[in-house]
Amino acid sequence: MAIERTLSIIKPDAVAKNVIGEIITRFEKAGLKVVNATLKQLTRAEAEGFYAVHKERPFFNDLVNFMISGPVFVQVLEGENAIAKNRELMGATDPKKAAPGTIRADFAESIDANAVHGSDAPETAAVEIAYFFGK
Ligand code: PPS
Repeated sequence: MAIERTLSIIKPDAVAKNVIGEIITRFEKAGLKVVNATLKQLTRAEAEGFYAVHKERPFFNDLVNFMISGPVFVQVLEGENAIAKNRELMGATDPKKAAPGTIRADFAESIDANAVHGSDAPETAAVEIAYFFGK
């Protein structure tokens, strides 16, 4: 299996709940290593740029407003099959549909405030990692 890197964001709702450590423990227990990380307050321009692919979607403004509502913890995870493994640990976008024991099932309140982001493919992972950490 390939060693991959993926971008993970612990969103403002989870940072406010003080569960950064609990979420990172899940990544580490699954064999993913944090190889870069930063706690930061996104500007509106940064959040809009990150989610530019969704700018025509009806929830775009709500998503941007939520992502700038408080600090986020942005990290690069590395490990075997890291992109799919992270998505599996996160659970479905809507926490009501997320499998029991996933991060969103355990820590998220709603589809708007859903605790974590994870890259969905190798190409997006490369772009998203470069967006926050450079090449
Ligand atoms: S996916 O898996 O990324 O394609 O999921 P998708 O459903 O396309 O959602 C893309 C991102 O938008 C967020 N989202 C929403 N935000 C606010 N309100 C509503 N209704 C909503 N629906 C989806 C969703 O959490 C995804 O954010 P990220 O950070 O990529 O997980």
